[in-house]
Amino acid sequence: MPTIAGLIFLALALTIIISGSRQIYNILIRGHAPFVFSRRRAIKKIIADLNLADGQIFYELGAGGAPLLRRLAGRYPQVKFVGLEYAFIPWLLGTILCLPYRNIKINKQNFWRADLSQADFIYCFLNVRVMAELENKLTTETKNKATIISYIFRLPNTEPAKILEIGQEKIYFYEVNRLDKSN
Ligand SMILES: C[S@@+](CC[C@H](N)C(=O)[O-])C[C@H]1O[C@@H](n2cnc3c(N)ncnc32)[C@H](O)[C@@H]1O
Repeated sequence: MPTIAGLIFLALALTIIISGSRQIYNILIRGHAPFVFSRRRAIKKIIADLNLADGQIFYELGAGGAPLLRRLAGRYPQVKFVGLEYAFIPWLLGTILCLPYRNIKINKQNFWRADLSQADFIYCFLNVRVMAELENKLTTETKNKATIISYIFRLPNTEPAKILEIGQEKIYFYEVNRLDKSN
């Protein structure tokens, strides 16, 4: 007769195996970005450059452990931070790590299906292929004047407003600038 603890352990193990296999399939076959943390020095550099205003909304696409959101949340208690993460293990980790911050919400969501129209800032650390595929969504479905920040991987057809450098690595800043939108 299996015990309750045994059943919980089995359910957890199955969840980890299934979500881990899906993650491997998504990375190897579909070219999705793997779970890797942004480097601490990049985060420091971005934070030193940012100036957020009360009431703004800051998104992280593929939040993982959300290291940037956690560093910003304490500094800007009146800013709302939203992390989007589709993979179970990074989502669980991000959710647990963000528990102390009442202004961060980590949604278990595929960012392709997300409404980004309210974001003032969007942070990405993804890969070359995903940034190329995301370019249209990021430049057409976002607020005019929204800032897109991408660590290491650039948008191939959009001129950055600014580039920060840390050694060999670059952090690209883009400003959405559509003449046809007034919001
Ligand atoms: C390179 S990691 C970056 C993690 C975190 N943003 C950071 O900077 O430390 C990329 C993350 O994006 C997630 N991801 C990839 N494709 C995604 C998608 N379509 N929707 C949501 N999350 C995605 C991965 O699971 C992974 O956790």
